[in-house]
Amino acid sequence: CGIVGYVGVAEAGTDVVLEGLRRLEYRGYDSAGIAVVAQGAGGTGIDTRKKAGKLANLVEALDADPLPAAATAIGHTRWATHGGPTDANAHPHVGQGGRLALIHNGIVENFAPLREELLRAGVAFTSETDTEVVAHLLARAHDEDPTAGLAAAMRAVCARLEGAFTLLAVHADEPGTIVGARRNSPLVVGLGEGANYLGSDVAAFIAHTREALELGQDQIVTITADEVVVTGFDGTPSEGRRFHVDWDAAAAEKGGFPSFMAKEIHDQPQAIADTLLGRTDAEGRLQLDEMKISEAELRSVDKIVVIACGTAAYAGQVAKYAIEHWCRIPVEVELAHEFRYRDPVVSDRTLVVAISQSGETMDTIMAVRHAREQGAKVLAICNTNGSTIPRESDAVLYTHAGPEIAVASTKAFLAQITACYLLGLYLAQLRGNKFADEVAEVLAQLHEIPAQVREVLDGLEQVREIARYMADTRSVLFLGRHVGYPVAMEGALKLKELAYIHAEGFAAGELKHGPIALVEPGQPVFVVVPSPRGRDSLHSKVVSNIQEVRARGARTLVIAERGDTAVEPFADVVIRIPQTSTLLSPLLAVVPLQVFACELATAKGLDVDQPRNLAKSVTVE
Ligand code: G6P
Repeated sequence: CGIVGYVGVAEAGTDVVLEGLRRLEYRGYDSAGIAVVAQGAGGTGIDTRKKAGKLANLVEALDADPLPAAATAIGHTRWATHGGPTDANAHPHVGQGGRLALIHNGIVENFAPLREELLRAGVAFTSETDTEVVAHLLARAHDEDPTAGLAAAMRAVCARLEGAFTLLAVHADEPGTIVGARRNSPLVVGLGEGANYLGSDVAAFIAHTREALELGQDQIVTITADEVVVTGFDGTPSEGRRFHVDWDAAAAEKGGFPSFMAKEIHDQPQAIADTLLGRTDAEGRLQLDEMKISEAELRSVDKIVVIACGTAAYAGQVAKYAIEHWCRIPVEVELAHEFRYRDPVVSDRTLVVAISQSGETMDTIMAVRHAREQGAKVLAICNTNGSTIPRESDAVLYTHAGPEIAVASTKAFLAQITACYLLGLYLAQLRGNKFADEVAEVLAQLHEIPAQVREVLDGLEQVREIARYMADTRSVLFLGRHVGYPVAMEGALKLKELAYIHAEGFAAGELKHGPIALVEPGQPVFVVVPSPRGRDSLHSKVVSNIQEVRARGARTLVIAERGDTAVEPFADVVIRIPQTSTLLSPLLAVVPLQVFACELATAKGLDVDQPRNLAKSVTVE
C-alpha cells in the first residue's frame, strides 16, 4: 500500500525509508518491512526485517536486530490482499537464492498459474502472497542473464504479469540501484541532490525533495544516487512527467485533495477495477477468494440473507435486486443488529452474506455468529483481510478498495456493490440457470464501469456549485425506485453523516402513501431515474413521480441517463450519467450524491473526514 525507495548517502538507507513509511501511515496498513543492500562479511547481500502490525513493531524488531548500514533501501507498508497480515506475508519478499528483494502494490491477476509453474520448477514458497511469485520470477530472470542487469530482468517479468502493480526491486549484484515498474498503480520518483527516491506518492519523500517525476503507464525506472533512467516495458527510452510539489505535507497525504473523502471518491474507478481483477479462470468461470462451502451446498441454497450495517446494508439492498434477478434465489436484506435479535428463520440451506468494510463491526460479527449457530453458511464480503468477519466465515470475497480513511464510506461502498454482482454472477454460473449464458455479457459491462465512473466524476462541476449554494438547506429528500431506491437512501445517509442535514430516501412509489405531505414550495428533491431502455414501465413511473413533487413546488434535481430527454420538462437540474444496464446503474448514480454531500459539508466548514459522533468502525453492540 505504501512504497518507499532510497538510494543515496551511505548509512542513511534504513532511516530515510522508515521516515518515508511513517509519512505513508495515513494510507492504512497491517504490516511493514524494509530491505537493504549492504556490504557484509561475505560480500554484498540483502537483508530484510518485516513485521505484522504497526510500524512500532517493525521499529522494535530493528532495535533488537538492526539492519546493516546501507545506501540503498526499500520499504513497504502492506494492506493484505492475497494472504492474511502475518510476518511471513509482509513485504519485502526475497527471491530464490536470497540475492533479490521485492516490494509490490496492487494485484497480480495471473499469479496462480505462475505460482504453479514455479512450484513445478522446485521453488519453495514462504508466503501466500502474489508478490512472492514475482520475486522468484525476477530472481530467476536475473540469474539467467546476470550481465543484462536488473532492469532487463524486470522488463522480461513485467511482460508476463497481468493486473495492476507497482514493483520495486533491489539485487545484491547491483548495490546502489533500485528498479521500479508500474502498471495501473502509481509510482513517483523524487529527484534529490546526490540521492534519489521512489514513492507510492510524494508524501514518501516530501521531507527531502519537492522535485518529482511521475511515471506513466507500463514504464520501468532505474534509480541510482545521481541518475534516473525511464523506459517502457519494451525497453524503448521514455520520460516521466516532471513536476514540482507545492503541497504541504498534510495536503500531500491527501494526494492534493482537500479531504480523504474527496480523494476516496476520486479513487472509486480504481476500487471497482481492483475488485474485478483476477476473478475468472481460463474457462471464464468466476472464483471467490476463500471457499469452504462445497459447490453442492451452494447449489442447494434456497434463501440468501444479507446482513450488514450502515452503508454496507445499502450495498446489500442493491445485491437483492441483482441476485434475485440473475439467480432466482429469494434474497432478504436485514440490518445485522435486527437480524440477531429477531429469531430469524435460517437453516443449513440458507446462505448468509455478511458485508463489512472493516470486518470488525460488532453488530455484524454477532449476527454472523448467530447465523452459524443456526446452521447457516456464511460468506463474507469484506475489505480488510485478516479481520474478524472473514476469519469467522465459511467463504470470503474480498473487495479491493484499499484502506478507507474517511469515516463515511464511499469507495468501499462501490467495491461492495461490485463484489455483490460478482457473487450473483458466480452463483448463476454455478447453478447453471437460464441466466448463466449472459454472465460474460454482464461482466463485460461491469468492466466498463470504472471508466464510466471517471466520466461522471469529471462532469460534476454543476453539482458542486449547487451544493455550495445549498449550504443553508435544512432538509433534502431523495427518491428512487428498484435499484435506485437504495441509491436514494445512501444519498440521504451521506448528507446526514457529512452535512448534518435532515435527509430521507424514499421508494418513489411510496411517495403518494405519505412522504408527499412533506413537500412544500422550495423543497429540494433528488430523483434517481432508471434507464428509459429498461424493462417494464419503471422509467415512466419515476418521471410521473418527478411531476408530482414538482407540481407541489419542489425543486427537482434529477439524475438521469444521457439521452433521456423525457425528464427535462420537469427537472430544475439534470445530472447526467452514462448508459449502462439498470442493475449496474447504482455504481454510477450514487457518485453525484456522494460529491453533493461532501461539497455541501465542506461549504458549511465541516470536517468531512471525521463527522461528529461517528466512528469508522463501531466495535460495540
Ligand atoms: C459505521 C460507519 C459507516 C459504515 C458502518 C458499517 O457506522 O460509520 O460508514 O457503513 O459502520 O461498517 P463496516 O465496516 O461493517 O462496513
